[in-house]
Amino acid sequence: MANQEISGIVMKYPQERRFALAAMQDMQRALSYIPREGLELLAEHLQCPMAELYSMATFYKALSLRPRGKHIIKLCNGTACHIRGSVNLRKCVSEILGIEAGETTPDGLFTLEIVNCLGACASSPVILIDDIFYGDVTAEQVPEILSAYCEKETI
Ligand code: FES
Repeated sequence: MANQEISGIVMKYPQERRFALAAMQDMQRALSYIPREGLELLAEHLQCPMAELYSMATFYKALSLRPRGKHIIKLCNGTACHIRGSVNLRKCVSEILGIEAGETTPDGLFTLEIVNCLGACASSPVILIDDIFYGDVTAEQVPEILSAYCEKETI
């Protein structure tokens, strides 16, 4: 599956280190993560140490070395959200999806990330799913919010 895709992405870039980030971003978009084979092939293509690529891949939040879900749930645990119950939302999301922070559901649908302040403290507690913002969320609303994404997948 992915090997040909990875190779296609890597080979479209000139053999210059300055294209490392762009190639990794392409892999991230195409595969939802950067597989080890992708880093190895890129290192060979750019004549660049693996350690350098690895440190870039771990530095940029938009890149991931582990498969990520189709939908990224960013649950805010900044001060305002924490005070207004983000811990309950986190428990609720974890119970429903069976995953903890940083994990992805086995079906690859959701990844849960805990973040610090999404810049919308007045609406705390807040959850961002992909680019959809949910404010003043209660634990009671969480099942309905998540089920909307599950239903979209069955259409
Ligand atoms: S603390 Fe959650 S949005 Fe600011």
